[in-house]
Amino acid sequence: SARGEENVRSPICCIMGHIDTGKTKLLDYIIGRNVQEGEAGGTTQKIGATYLSARNILEKTMELKSDAKLNVPGLLFIDTPGYKFFMNLRSRGLTLCDFAILVVDVMHGLEPQTIECLNLLRKRNTEFIIALTKVDRLYGWKTCENAPIMKAMKQQTNDVRNEFNMRLNEIIDQFKDQGLNTELYYKNKEMRETFSIVPTSAISGEGIPDLLLLLVQLSQKTVVEKLTYVDKVQCIVLEGKVMEGYGTTIDVVLVNGELHEGDQIVGPIVTTIRALLTPHPIKELHVNGNPVHHEVITAAQCINIIAQGLEHTIVGTTLHVVGPDDDIEAIKELVMLD
Ligand code: GTP
Ligand code: MG
Ligand code: NA
Repeated sequence: SARGEENVRSPICCIMGHIDTGKTKLLDYIIGRNVQEGEAGGTTQKIGATYLSARNILEKTMELKSDAKLNVPGLLFIDTPGYKFFMNLRSRGLTLCDFAILVVDVMHGLEPQTIECLNLLRKRNTEFIIALTKVDRLYGWKTCENAPIMKAMKQQTNDVRNEFNMRLNEIIDQFKDQGLNTELYYKNKEMRETFSIVPTSAISGEGIPDLLLLLVQLSQKTVVEKLTYVDKVQCIVLEGKVMEGYGTTIDVVLVNGELHEGDQIVGPIVTTIRALLTPHPIKELHVNGNPVHHEVITAAQCINIIAQGLEHTIVGTTLHVVGPDDDIEAIKELVMLD
């Protein structure tokens, strides 16, 4: 079934960090698309959600580990803004996720919102991986497109490796000042107490296989602990957008449960789902196909919902689905309390 063999839902991974550390670019590289360059001022101003299937993830980790397993249908990535005034969006993004990637620019080290994100992650007890990105900006870096990071490091001169190690050690010290033990992931022997650092580039892709493999491992571990699928629908509105011919539609994250065409939803208006759309599955770079219609969608996913009256929904609130035995008035009251 769509839920995968083990009746687990796809995990949700939130991408967090200081402004312009390269969060969106990293996701662009992983997905094989280019959203970042289309953003106003190159700045993310909302929560974005993108799904990547298990097959696509495993294809990208093949070189590193040919027999990696992923017992979830895929991974849903949530991109958050680093701009300092969007703390509420970062915080909301985090409430949706099972684990996170904290992005740090290797040339800048820890910055104010890095520390803010770190504190949010710890407050919520969320597991995370640190992506130490923009390694291609190290002076004299030799590009090794898509290469696992150890392989890419071997191609570098001693000067580049020395500069990298110097910056890495500084950043490990900065984390230590925040009370956090961190270590390069392939040297990390005590995953429970020490957080893993993965060097990456979102321009040439070094370290991306490593980052994805760590996410696979984190998913597998999380599966056992908390990804067991539950039927209760948990669905959050990310944004409303006007689509030609459809009026206002909404983008939602389905965190848990199933949505069907024809479901009656409350949030806060009562309406019926006319269509459920997801973006065309990405088969190759920069292909932008038509959206795909679904009769039913299983969590976790990001979905565009078409229905009447959606201009009355409120970004950030929960959508409720009316079950056969539910009292609409009671649900309406619940929505008002959100
Ligand atoms: P906000 O969402 O606004 O917080 O920014 P962000 O963290 O999503 O960063 P974004 O992806 O917008 O990238 C910021 C800038 O850094 C852009 O000009 C990117 O092209 C550049 N950039 C991102 N990743 C890399 C990288 O790995 N290498 C290099 N050289 N540049 C990068
Ligand atoms: Mg961004
Ligand atoms: Na940016």
